[in-house]
Amino acid sequence: MNKTRQADLGTPASPKTETVRVEIDGLPATVKAGTTILRAARESGIDVPKLCSTDNLKPFGSCRLCLVEVEGRKGYPASCTTPVEAGMKIRTQTEALSKIRRNVMELYISDHPLDCLTCSANGDCELQDMAGAVGLRDVRYGFDGENHLDAPVDASNPYFQFDASKCIVCSRCVRACDEVQGTFALTIEGRGFDSKVSAGMSENFLDSECVSCGACVQACPTATLMEKSIVDHGQPDHSVVTTCAYCGVGCSFQVEMKGSQVVRMTPYKDGQANHGHSCVKGRFAWGYASHRERVMKPLIRDNTSDPWREVEWQEAIDYAARRFKEIQARHGQKSIGGITSSRCTNEEVFVVQKLVRAAFGNNNVDTCARVCHSPTGYGLKTTLGTSAGTQPFDSVMDADVIMVIGANPTVAHPVFASQMKQRLREGAQLIVVDPREIGLVRSPHIEAAYHLPLLPGTNVPVINALAHVIIDEGLVDDDYVRERCEIDSFEAWKSRIMRPENSPEGVAKISGVDAETIRAAARLFGSARNAAIYYGLGVTEHSQGSTMVMGMANLAMATGNIGRSGVGVNPLRGQNNVQGSCDMGSFPHELAGYRHISGDEVRSQFEEHWGVTIDPEPGFRIPNMFDAACAGTFKGMYIQGEDLAQSDPDTLHVEDALSKMQCIVVQDLFLNETAKFAHVFLPGTSFLEKDGTFINAERRINRVRPVMEAQQGKDEWEITQDLAQALGYPMNYSNAAEIMDEIAELTPTFNNVSFKFLDDVGSVQWPCNEDAPMGTPIMHIDQFVRGKGLFVETDYVPTEERTNRKFPLLLTTGRILSQYNVGAQTRRTANNVWYGEDLLEVHPHDAETRGIRDGSLVALASRKGDITLRAKITTRVKPGVVYTTFHNPETGANVVTTEYSDWATNCPEYKVTAVQISPASRRSGWQEEFAARAEQQGKIAETNQ
Ligand code: SF4
Ligand code: SF4
Ligand code: SF4
Ligand code: FES
Repeated sequence: MNKTRQADLGTPASPKTETVRVEIDGLPATVKAGTTILRAARESGIDVPKLCSTDNLKPFGSCRLCLVEVEGRKGYPASCTTPVEAGMKIRTQTEALSKIRRNVMELYISDHPLDCLTCSANGDCELQDMAGAVGLRDVRYGFDGENHLDAPVDASNPYFQFDASKCIVCSRCVRACDEVQGTFALTIEGRGFDSKVSAGMSENFLDSECVSCGACVQACPTATLMEKSIVDHGQPDHSVVTTCAYCGVGCSFQVEMKGSQVVRMTPYKDGQANHGHSCVKGRFAWGYASHRERVMKPLIRDNTSDPWREVEWQEAIDYAARRFKEIQARHGQKSIGGITSSRCTNEEVFVVQKLVRAAFGNNNVDTCARVCHSPTGYGLKTTLGTSAGTQPFDSVMDADVIMVIGANPTVAHPVFASQMKQRLREGAQLIVVDPREIGLVRSPHIEAAYHLPLLPGTNVPVINALAHVIIDEGLVDDDYVRERCEIDSFEAWKSRIMRPENSPEGVAKISGVDAETIRAAARLFGSARNAAIYYGLGVTEHSQGSTMVMGMANLAMATGNIGRSGVGVNPLRGQNNVQGSCDMGSFPHELAGYRHISGDEVRSQFEEHWGVTIDPEPGFRIPNMFDAACAGTFKGMYIQGEDLAQSDPDTLHVEDALSKMQCIVVQDLFLNETAKFAHVFLPGTSFLEKDGTFINAERRINRVRPVMEAQQGKDEWEITQDLAQALGYPMNYSNAAEIMDEIAELTPTFNNVSFKFLDDVGSVQWPCNEDAPMGTPIMHIDQFVRGKGLFVETDYVPTEERTNRKFPLLLTTGRILSQYNVGAQTRRTANNVWYGEDLLEVHPHDAETRGIRDGSLVALASRKGDITLRAKITTRVKPGVVYTTFHNPETGANVVTTEYSDWATNCPEYKVTAVQISPASRRSGWQEEFAARAEQQGKIAETNQ
């Protein structure tokens, strides 16, 4: 029996709460009403044989292996489809049952290759287990009859194979794809003996609709669908539970190991964010951790044109400290700063912001949330009182109307999208507000009630118009507003919203969405019993990002949709630990727990603990650092795990700033684009080596556990600690748990959190303290964190970025499923097979008028710069709008994005750039320079080897 296989109780848990008593094999058992006999038996420790059922899929009743006897009933009911009844007396093991089960297994085995000893599933095969369990010793039919043993192997998917000769047609894979993933990529083709599993229209897996989530592979009880890593390396011998290091869903995984080698990542059934599901990134794209380009030794160089020099840790740390000290001596204490990483653990982040405040002696610390969800922090804190989403993911299962604004969950938060799709298939209604026709608008068994394809940059007028209709048509929840909100703020907001410019007709002209659609969507949202808003970077990355976040909070409060399950305002946060990096005090104006740096009481608490004086003035944000660098007053940066040169907007300006600095220290896995401007490179650790915590989009604090030692010799918090010490500040943690203890002591919302507590309870959602010892899944239940909810007026101030004759189109940006952000990880995996380059989506009309063909090269120009990329002609974008991703550094999507940013937080306006496109035949000037620089850096790297 496989040592790492997770328990399978056969069928899903019953949702009922009342219990019934039954007798199974003479022993009493108490189970929830509605539980199947199979599950009741398994919960009691009796393993009734089964093949076609598994506990994350609805019972199917096809294999007939799980038959049982029930006293007083004729025949042999299938235990997986028969619910228990009070007083039932069940027998799971009798002579008659054994005979039936042996006959069933005999039929299966007569058409199955007898290669158990050399099969990749040997030791982890349910068919093999069942043959043993029923005592099958002989196959009377022989093996010479008609069979499927010559069926071909489909190895087209880079991560798993489909060996049809081993298929028992139990349909678990098909049902997993339908029920769990919601992609409906598989079918059972044919009938009887000819029935077989087919991907898409008899395609191979790679060419089909399959999104490689792995649910079918996990569901398969045989070696038919099998991870190639298991085929290559064999079965695991131990496992460790940890958290995915890609997106803000924060899926729990069981990392399965053979000795010191990772052989598989299996989604963890008890993971409270993912309930045993996964996407292609977390499930399969972990090979980057051991990619040959990963840097394993510290590097230093005096000038960026010099070759890197490999040195020992102490030399690199001393070198960085000396250069930082020299800069501060010459240019002042505030001439350097640090960036924390949302890819790193809370503990690693906390020590970096502490290094800046305590050892650098300033508040020049910022984080990549600056460029993604900083408006979420500002907007939700202002209106509701806390800088985070209001709900757990499971809350979506109680929503009746779901409004998705500026987010593309099926590609950016795939596991949550699958859960949302389950709810939509159950009948919840969907409103999508997005310039593009994202996948959710129309997919198998799902169709949005309304899609509002607004022009990029017009979120605020559209949310105002939705509110206008809700007020106008009497859909405001007056009781809720009166009891829960500041009534004066409501009245002021209401009178602004009722101005004619906020009517659907007024807004239709600027947003491009017709008034009737706005009206209908507002009615649907405003009349719902439970209406929930989910949003993403398509909301925040605008010059009115904070306004829009507050606009959504206003709408949710006005309709009484905050404070219970099924409702809320929910940011789908991008990176694995972007919530945590903000919680940890990574912003220049806030200490851990979002407490302003100017607060004497809070500051003195930290000062006492850290033994230093903390500057009461907020420090620089990232754009301030760049501007000051260009002006010659900001000279050094310690950058933990963020590729500023690729991910920040207005690349030419960023490159100018980076090239003007005297000491850039990059701590990362790979020599990324920013490292081209660096003087010290400190190799970091992958998530497989980290000990700590990540916090996902639902405020869930998940444990990250190491499955191996730090491969380059040092934990990341230790690197930061060494640097602090070299700068003369005593930092003396002996492990990551001690750092979390300090976070908990200094941060009221984390008071109860410790590694031990998390190991005991699994995970917890903050606030977790004396008032909420087991955490807080839903926020603002009886009252808002700020007391009364605050309505904030959300007048529309259009961006200064406008289309004109020279740049008549609007560019907006986003992601695709298989790549992740700047692609540093996913580009170093087989995920490239799905998307090797960034493409520019263009509407056929815009393409035709410019003579652009599908797949041809296009020059994309804005007032900031120009790049060349390949066109994809599609009606997913409407005329006048083009769209691209930013996963590949050589594309340089941010060469064209602008300096405009959110008025409150400086979050860049990635989503709106006025551009022109034209046919092209070669790379742009910047791309030529990029290629030359990459070649030069490649040569420098080679001289080091
Ligand atoms: S990998 Fe996922 S999407 Fe692909 S066929 Fe299997 S369940 Fe469906
Ligand atoms: S591929 Fe696996 S899960 Fe799918 S029908 Fe065949 S044996 Fe069952
Ligand atoms: S949904 Fe996000 S957290 Fe989950 S496996 Fe995919 S990338 Fe990882
Ligand atoms: S497990 Fe019940 S019929 Fe297959």
